[in-house]
Amino acid sequence: AGSRTGPPSPGVEHPVNTAIHLFGTTFQNPVLLAAGTCGFGQELADVIDLEALGGLVTKSVTVEPRTGNPAPRVAEFSGGMMNSIGLANPGLEGTRRDKLPWLRDHLRRARVWVSVAGHSPEEFFQLVEGLDGEDGFLGFELNLSCPNDTRRDAPPFALDPPSVRSILSGARARTDRPLLAKLAPNDPDPAATARTAEEAGADGLTLANTLPGLLLDEEGRPRLGAGAGGVSGPALLPGGVRMVEQVRHAVGLPLVGLGGISGVADALAYARAGATLVGVGTASFADPRAGEKLAVGLHRWGRRKGVTAWSDLVGPSAGPVQKEA
Ligand code: FUM
Repeated sequence: AGSRTGPPSPGVEHPVNTAIHLFGTTFQNPVLLAAGTCGFGQELADVIDLEALGGLVTKSVTVEPRTGNPAPRVAEFSGGMMNSIGLANPGLEGTRRDKLPWLRDHLRRARVWVSVAGHSPEEFFQLVEGLDGEDGFLGFELNLSCPNDTRRDAPPFALDPPSVRSILSGARARTDRPLLAKLAPNDPDPAATARTAEEAGADGLTLANTLPGLLLDEEGRPRLGAGAGGVSGPALLPGGVRMVEQVRHAVGLPLVGLGGISGVADALAYARAGATLVGVGTASFADPRAGEKLAVGLHRWGRRKGVTAWSDLVGPSAGPVQKEA
């Protein structure tokens, strides 16, 4: 790791090393596009330079293709937005046939995670087995926390420790690729869930998914076609940072901080709390280049502050989460 060297000398160009070595590979910078906000990359390739990112997480893939929940699927409010997309995706076969080849052929520097979502542990296993032999991606993000799966009449797996254990250990037995477990922001004991995921074979944790919520219009009708949905955007920032800080002290796994990140200060808050990688989600809807701009912004910020390596910023070794002796 590099070191914090104080303010840069006038006229001297200080390179900032934003590269992160994790999961057996190198992320050229810490910025990922979050699942569900960038399709499978191809959809945004004419609008942003995907190769300028640390990486991206695909839309969650389910065993069967899904058309998703009834419209409207998104609604804005003053703190951000809500969605209930309903995991619309081309399914396992469609992803294998149409999506992974594009990623394999077009991305060299950006690292790709395939998000998978099942109705049961067995569906997660089917997805991992069915995709593992393909090229074009680094690892899996197990979506254990989708709040919008109206076909599953139960709380998300992430809120049920035995399910977390069984999905992680079964997925671990079926692939050597890195596994991220995506947890829920309304988990009453995220440190315990994180420990369960770690013990069962997770390589990292994504903290966190959208927060269950409901928006009603003046007549009391839900503003989303599915009724309730998941809150995202700026309102999630403080809860997300707190969750990272809580989990960071409970496990030794790298964390992906996600929720309400749009600019440098937001990403730094997550890093200081303990996130090594950061995800940009809702901000990309307002500006598709938000992730790309954040990567540049972090680089400039580091140069201005004389920070030589991003890894030096990641708590709890630096910043406000450091405990006084
Ligand atoms: O509705 C959706 O597709 C959202 C999925 C998620 O938040 O995990």
